[in-house]
Amino acid sequence: MALLIKNGRIITATDDYTADVYCEGETITKIAPSIDSGSIAKGTEVIDAAGKYVFPGFIDPHVHIHLPFMGTCAKDDHASGSRAALAGGTTSFIEMICPGPKDEPLDAFNEWKSKAEGQAACDFSFHMSVVRFDESAREQFRQIVTIEGIPSFKVFLAYKGALDLSDEDLFGMLSLAKELGVIVTAHCENAEAIDAMQKRLLAEGKTGPEWHEPSRPISVEADGVHHLATMAGLTGAHIYTVHTSCEPAVRTALDARLRGVNVWIESVMPHLVLDKSAAERPNFEGAKYVMSPPLRGRRHQDVLWAGLAGRAISTIATDHAPFDFKGQKDMGKGAFTKIPNGIPSIQDRPALVYTHGVRPGRIDLHTFVDACSTQAARIFGMYPRKGDIRVGADADLVVWDPDFEGTLSKETSLSAVDYNAYEGWKVNGRASAVTVRGEVQAKEGKFVGTTGRGRLITREPTHF
Ligand code: URP
Ligand code: ZN
Ligand code: ZN
Repeated sequence: MALLIKNGRIITATDDYTADVYCEGETITKIAPSIDSGSIAKGTEVIDAAGKYVFPGFIDPHVHIHLPFMGTCAKDDHASGSRAALAGGTTSFIEMICPGPKDEPLDAFNEWKSKAEGQAACDFSFHMSVVRFDESAREQFRQIVTIEGIPSFKVFLAYKGALDLSDEDLFGMLSLAKELGVIVTAHCENAEAIDAMQKRLLAEGKTGPEWHEPSRPISVEADGVHHLATMAGLTGAHIYTVHTSCEPAVRTALDARLRGVNVWIESVMPHLVLDKSAAERPNFEGAKYVMSPPLRGRRHQDVLWAGLAGRAISTIATDHAPFDFKGQKDMGKGAFTKIPNGIPSIQDRPALVYTHGVRPGRIDLHTFVDACSTQAARIFGMYPRKGDIRVGADADLVVWDPDFEGTLSKETSLSAVDYNAYEGWKVNGRASAVTVRGEVQAKEGKFVGTTGRGRLITREPTHF
């Protein structure tokens, strides 16, 4: 079936023009000022995008769907998570594979893949977490990169005793990444310092969610970035700091960049619009806002937006990690260290960035597209198949209604989690039509597509 999007204002990371976009099968086959309906296949679906923007499908480069973590398991499956993503305008995501330290990496890869295939409605890929690095694991990572098409690793410099690596293993893993052309995405915090701080705070009777931020202050995150960058400098590996939350962490990464380290910086939705006062809400409601690195003081938001505007920060992801308030977050009622970490945002990212970034002029439309789509495609080896509007690219498109005014809520959220961190927030702009490889999957905030149609995006290593 063919699709014609007429009269839209096409916005890419670099271009802005009005044109018609014609898609046949799964790809964009023609872009022209005016495509006559007489010249296209019979039965073509036509969407009138007059007065609307047409963006490349948004890409979320950091989500958790299947996530066994902190004694429980995140709430979405690939059906609910991908439907929520699509309703907001996200057409592809990259999920973190997070096995336990005793698991075989290939088994984990197959487990995560089997959870997504036949369930996801949008396209997906994976970052492979390295939580052990013995000889057998090393060989499996080679296979995951070269045979399975997953050329990005994830490493945790946090979660002591659960997911963190020794320095010897970190060095070995970064050396392998350099050899294979793999980019290493990294959660940067000093795990030992956090462990000590947590013990001290709990011993002082400071047990509520409001103590989560003081247990892992900005200096602890900057220290993690510095440590990773030092090891990357020694090995030549390319690195990507996920959910970078604060000025010292951003500055530390930029300092490393000036020393010649190949480092990219990711920001995530919660850090851009929420601040640490959310975790201080009474009646344990603050637990909804516990994530790591924690929400920070408001001034750090200005640094993140400015970093995006100047393209020092490359991407806006979500770090979607959905744990119910009732039955999961409340596992930490006696100790904030037991609150499952994560703030869900998979559906709301495009509208939040448009409302809080584009509308007030913090970033322009091109930066919006670049940070929410194109950079993820470029950095993670999907460009130009994804992340752009051009002939030959996958027909992943978002027709965006800039005049829409709405309210975010649990009611309209398609994620399975029992709360919306942005409940009651007013937003401007909405994806009025969302296509994945030429088929409309969402309309006006509702999923209208086919669950299970999503496909694994295999990728080539590019970070040599
Ligand atoms: O709090 C977070 N970020 N939860 C998900 C796991 C991680 O660290 O990315
Ligand atoms: Zn993390
Ligand atoms: Zn994460």
